[in-house]
Amino acid sequence: MILKPKGTYDVYGEDAKKYRFIESLINDYMSLMNAGFIRTPIFEASELIHRSVGDESDIVSKETYDFLDRKGRSLTLRPEATASVVRSLIENKLYANTADAIKYYYFGTMYRYERPQSGRNREFTQFGLEVFNCNTILSDVEVISCGYDILSALGIECTVYINCLGDSETRERYTTAIKEYLAPHIDELCDDCKARFLKNPLRILDCKVDAGSEIFKNMPVITDYLTDESKSKFEELKNFLIHMDVDFEIDTSIVRGLDYYNDFVYEYKASDGLALGGGGRYDTLVSKLGGPSINACGFALGIERLMMNMNTNIDEDIFDAYILAVSPEEKLQALKLVNMLRLSGFKVSMSLNDASLKSQFKYADKLNSKFLIILNDDDLKLGLINIKDNILKTEEKIDEYDILEYFFENL
Ligand code: HAM
Repeated sequence: MILKPKGTYDVYGEDAKKYRFIESLINDYMSLMNAGFIRTPIFEASELIHRSVGDESDIVSKETYDFLDRKGRSLTLRPEATASVVRSLIENKLYANTADAIKYYYFGTMYRYERPQSGRNREFTQFGLEVFNCNTILSDVEVISCGYDILSALGIECTVYINCLGDSETRERYTTAIKEYLAPHIDELCDDCKARFLKNPLRILDCKVDAGSEIFKNMPVITDYLTDESKSKFEELKNFLIHMDVDFEIDTSIVRGLDYYNDFVYEYKASDGLALGGGGRYDTLVSKLGGPSINACGFALGIERLMMNMNTNIDEDIFDAYILAVSPEEKLQALKLVNMLRLSGFKVSMSLNDASLKSQFKYADKLNSKFLIILNDDDLKLGLINIKDNILKTEEKIDEYDILEYFFENL
């Protein structure tokens, strides 16, 4: 037997219902906030991913699926979609002719070569919202509350953990402070962090190997190095979030595993600490990738993690009708009825196999059908159809030409 690759999964049954429920709730919510859907390729030029997410990040240094195509081009299965959306924004000039913020959302699979465990897969699905041309804190607030509201609508309790990485001056000051602090301890750091110390010291804060060590516990905290401007922006964000009733906490250890952020970063966490989603502001990524200077912010939620945590009852599907037929003539007539009723929007099914009437009754019960249409050759010759109402427990024969009217009146 050939099995699915490690870290992947099949979605069916109850999970499929949850998956589709979440997707449809998100589609509805996105159209309410005037966000357009965007679909980008599952693979991109490796350079795009490496330049956006950052060469020293864990994602790029350890987790990407990179490959050469038949012409030797280096491609990468997308580990996230922010870089792709930015690429598309630039390539298709989606920023042109608009003075207002531009909102795009996506829903699709991402790929990271991680050690699979509960809630951590190699292929997983993200919903993400990216907002461009947004230069006030209102957009950060709208984006943060959007993720929070979607989680609430799914019955998922979460807290948003927020940090401020400030402007470039803040990060310069902070980088100097970290380097001064870590210099005497350099030999105690893991090999990756030794390399990060030279190339990108901020990435050290995201290290999963050294996290929890004594050195990390006393590390300088970025919010102590914020410039006055960054400090007041952070205060403003906090006040707005209080105003919007978002349950949040400050967590100065959040730096996020991707290089493109400035100012605010955050993670939505369930009570067990699992990150359901995360995001932040990334004002320089568009210009870094060759586009104009456009502000941006956004977040993404991990759909599998939402499925694990959601607490919403998904209504059992109620079928409108199941048609029972045994003889070839009955089956032919059933097929025609099924087709006609479906075209009018009714959920109708019939057995495609040579099943006995008894087993067809059983299946109809399982489907939870409101109506049973029991065809028999004698009735058909008279142009009649026998309908049983499974809820009212009534049964009657109607003219075959009246069936649509009967459905519209009784459903
Ligand atoms: P991220 O924090 O890397 O951010 O991923 C967002 C969410 O995707 C995580 O919080 C988690 O729920 C889910 N996720 C990540 N890795 C896995 C995995 N291996 N298995 C299952 N779920 C996973 C981003 O990707 C950014 N692009 C978010 C963003 C959008 N920032 C700005 N705009």
